[in-house]
Amino acid sequence: MQITPLSGTSSDALSALLDDAFGADRHARTAYLLRKGMKPVNHLSFGIVDGGQLVASIQCWPVRVGKAELFLVGPVAVATNRQNSGLGKRLMQLMLDAVKPQDPPMVMIGDPEYYARFGFVSEGTAGWTLPGPWDPKRLLLRNTKLVELPARGVLGPAD
Ligand SMILES: CC(C)(COP(=O)(O)OP(=O)(O)OC[C@H]1O[C@@H](n2cnc3c(N)ncnc32)[C@H](O)[C@@H]1OP(=O)(O)O)[C@@H](O)C(=O)NCCC(=O)NCCS
Repeated sequence: MQITPLSGTSSDALSALLDDAFGADRHARTAYLLRKGMKPVNHLSFGIVDGGQLVASIQCWPVRVGKAELFLVGPVAVATNRQNSGLGKRLMQLMLDAVKPQDPPMVMIGDPEYYARFGFVSEGTAGWTLPGPWDPKRLLLRNTKLVELPARGVLGPAD
């Protein structure tokens, strides 16, 4: 298996993987609205290629809540026929290992049962508003440096 920067991966291969993991209606998800018009953060976006096939991917995006910068993590996608074999954990660890000291806290929409192991928790996000429907239990924050963030505010694209 090879780790590759996602910027060097074909957009068709990435689309096929995301359709497989999330369904072809994925573009209507609130997470897509959160980062509408943004370009991915290249140093935190990776793919895993096996036998010439893109089998897993992670992307991060610049967003903000009020005036505070955040990186939105996701989609985290593992091909349906490769799930539950450690690729998701590997991607998350790769991404966290690539975080730079100056990078802002991270936010994501995901299952707390899975993402808590990587330090993502719903504490701190209850007062935030999103541009589409969301389950507050699944709006997760990782703020290891305890950066001061607004208790209330609209979460959305960085500009
Ligand atoms: C969620 C996802 C990224 C996890 O990656 P994965 O490679 O399948 O999972 P891993 O092998 O890393 O981890 C497996 C473990 O996580 C658990 N797990 C997997 N998905 C989970 C979920 N959604 N909620 C809670 N636990 C989950 C498994 O039960 C397993 O537990 P165990 O270690 O106790 O046996 C992947 O299944 C996926 O792409 N799903 C569809 C798209 C999606 O929902 N993405 C996340 C939102 S951005």
